[in-house]
Amino acid sequence: MKKVSIIGAGNIGSTLALIMAMKELANEIYLLDIHEGPAKGKALDIMESSPILKFGAKVYGTASYEDIKNSDLYIVTAGFPRKPGMTREDLLFKNYEVIKSVCENLNKVLKKDSKVIIVTNPLDIMTYVAVKTLNLPKNQVMGMAGVLDSARFAYFISEKTGISVENIKASVIGGHGDDMVPLVRYSTIAGLPLNFFLKDEEIEELVERTRKGGTEIVNLLGTGSAYFAPAASIFEMSTAILQNKRKVMPCSVYLEGEAGKHYEAEGLCVGVPVILGKDGVEEVILLDLNDEERKMWRKSVESVRKVVETLKSKVNL
Ligand code: APR
Repeated sequence: MKKVSIIGAGNIGSTLALIMAMKELANEIYLLDIHEGPAKGKALDIMESSPILKFGAKVYGTASYEDIKNSDLYIVTAGFPRKPGMTREDLLFKNYEVIKSVCENLNKVLKKDSKVIIVTNPLDIMTYVAVKTLNLPKNQVMGMAGVLDSARFAYFISEKTGISVENIKASVIGGHGDDMVPLVRYSTIAGLPLNFFLKDEEIEELVERTRKGGTEIVNLLGTGSAYFAPAASIFEMSTAILQNKRKVMPCSVYLEGEAGKHYEAEGLCVGVPVILGKDGVEEVILLDLNDEERKMWRKSVESVRKVVETLKSKVNL
């Protein structure tokens, strides 16, 4: 019996609940939101699809943390999107308040082996806030970004080459922002390097498109941000944890000790490849970065560090 609770029954949260129910990843799936009606409505709507889609998982909507007690996995998508006229900094402080209060509430209901995946933006910073606020070991808390950025990169490679996405392995690390680090050297098409099929300038275009992947969707949607691929990415991480797959994927994790030194990001959450299994982040992979990659990596880490410092200058963390 697995119990998964999704905090934030918005676009990502409700899409994820449907995918999880259809794939029967958990027996009980809770959608918790400050707006109880929409959370209950979306859960009921999903349940009403079950006779057709033929799944036995149960989806519930709630506004009460008591209902989500003792979940195996919590996924936090609660927060505000950036609205016109709002700076990134305004969003930072608004979503900080949301994540802080969600984590304080989770502390009252989680069990000692619960895992928590953070999705709310700015991702690496909100993951840091969660790591600092939750009463859980650091390896049980992680942020979703790299799986999504890598999926975008893989899709763009497939679209450009006309080769099946099934043959493509793409890897993106670093902070979830414009300075993310798509790793061309560690990305392959049927095991072959990208430049076997693509010219250097074509690869560079795909790298740039990946960095701006979120904005491309925001501009097309007109209102709101991406949710299908983000939900699929959370599903991939959740499966690795709940089914103890020990899969390697990039996640935003708290870096300390040997990993902190290797990645020159001691005490920050940034996206790196990790092994995900039943204990959460079971190992951080220490990637060998060449000079060019390291330069991009440092720039990305500095961007994350700056935002953490802005936050810490105003709040107690
Ligand atoms: N507790 C619970 N739910 C909350 C809280 C809170 N304190 N604050 C806001 N919410 C809920 C909102 O009511 C809304 O239903 O969070 C939900 C967010 O849903 P959407 O606005 O549809 O956002 P979504 O597209 O799902 O993205 C969620 O993930 O990728 C990031 O930038 C994105 O931060 C955003 C988050």
